Amino acid sequence: MILLTLSSALVFAASVTAQQVNRTLTNGWGSTPSQRHYINHTQALIVINAGIAASSVPNNIAVLDPSSQLVAFLRMDNAYLGSVDISMKKAKTVTSFNGQFPSYGLLNRSQPGGDLFGIEQTNGGLVVFGGGQPIYDYEGYFIGAVGVSGGTVQQDVDTSVAAAESVGTTLTSITLANHAITPSLPMADRAQPYPSKQHEMETIENADNILRPTPSNFEKLYLAPEQAVAGKLRFTFGNPTPIALAGFLLANTPATCMLMGWHGAGGGQGIANADTGAYFFCGAVLLYCGAVGEWILGNTFPAVVFFTFGGFWGTFGATLTPFFAAVSGYGTDAAGFYDSFAFFLVFMAVLCLFYAIAALRTNICLVIILVCFCVTFPCLAASYFYAGAGVGPATECRVVGAAFAFVASMVAWYLWFSMLLEAVDWPFTLPVGDLSKFIKGKSDKLKSAEHMA
Ligand SMILES: *[C@@H]1O[C@H](CO)[C@@H](O)[C@H](O)[C@H]1NC(C)=O
Ligand SMILES: *[C@@H]1O[C@H](CO)[C@@H](O)[C@H](O)[C@H]1NC(C)=O
Ligand SMILES: *[C@@H]1O[C@H](CO)[C@@H](O)[C@H](O)[C@H]1NC(C)=O
Repeated sequence: MILLTLSSALVFAASVTAQQVNRTLTNGWGSTPSQRHYINHTQALIVINAGIAASSVPNNIAVLDPSSQLVAFLRMDNAYLGSVDISMKKAKTVTSFNGQFPSYGLLNRSQPGGDLFGIEQTNGGLVVFGGGQPIYDYEGYFIGAVGVSGGTVQQDVDTSVAAAESVGTTLTSITLANHAITPSLPMADRAQPYPSKQHEMETIENADNILRPTPSNFEKLYLAPEQAVAGKLRFTFGNPTPIALAGFLLANTPATCMLMGWHGAGGGQGIANADTGAYFFCGAVLLYCGAVGEWILGNTFPAVVFFTFGGFWGTFGATLTPFFAAVSGYGTDAAGFYDSFAFFLVFMAVLCLFYAIAALRTNICLVIILVCFCVTFPCLAASYFYAGAGVGPATECRVVGAAFAFVASMVAWYLWFSMLLEAVDWPFTLPVGDLSKFIKGKSDKLKSAEHMA
């Protein structure tokens, strides 16, 4: 009987940018047309119609592009004529400061004694109460503003928020207004996909973060730091990460139990052949499917890790399958087989080491999983070498290696469950120890360097 011990590993990785937009120049001075993002008339009509649908009183609704130019305007029957101008000025108040806050963001500071007292007199007249909302498209670009006037301030705010959200997202907090108005806004601020960290913190509370995850949420959902990807694929498709994780769990967890010989599993000798089907159809197939999904969404790191582990389980399953003659090819020379297969595990260990380093930009759970595999694979390789030599603690090495893989499995179950809860919008979330803030990414550093300049 062949002593086949192994285990698996799993890893995921950091995503990569399919197509970079130079956000420094987005809508900025000297930007070229392809670097500008502005609302088009199709979107403007959607905003107007959403505004009408959300109106409880006759309203005037104005849509401006980021350069404060009118794109669409509609006066509902019997709306106040005086509100025509107000609606446009509300939107203009937002666009004049690059969509950093809703029109009411200036309210308190423009009062007598406020540091921006009189600001509404500038620019041919601004409106500092509610009803003007910035519009961000689904990729996070500031593309224009909507102004609504006709009801009470609260009604106008509600209508304008609903209108803005018909084509993307908006801001519902004025935190930024308390510090953002300086004589000149840093270009980096206006150019980022998210206006600022505060904006991210605000949107995390909103339902729209289901559509556009915040950076820490993104990292949790996809096991990779967020990077820009062209198009809206991430809004169109589901999240493949938990699918791949489920495949990993259903292959890895029972295999480790067999290798440890629990409850008589593995015939007490760590024989892991019973679940060969699971290695192929849960391990390999689900991991490959998840990897393809990640690849399509532009999440390179998880795609690489899932493909690798899918490959591992396929290899493991095939090695156990007599058809491939992996074992019988060695005839009676079992030692030759052990010594040869051990090298596969040695290099899986090397791979996991690199993955573990890359994972330091993701979350603690993933790092624990990968570090466990950095122990598991060398132990299993040692177990094979000892088995090949016929002396030494082959069994002990196998059990220790499997134990670490089992720990990795337990952490992976937790990670997977936290993603499931996220996927069904469960009222609480399980923390996975976001690490993306601790090691600053190259692109983050570039951004802050531009900011300082
Ligand atoms: C974006 O453009 C600015 C200005 O030309 C340049 O300094 C910066 O390096 C560019 N960034 C990238 C990521 O290409
Ligand atoms: C307007 O923008 C939307 C969203 O980006 C796009 O789907 C649509 O095709 C555009 N319409 C026109 C007329 O350019
Ligand atoms: C204005 O100030 C009051 C009192 O400090 C505060 O409660 C309110 O939220 C502020 N409103 C805005 C729009 O800044």
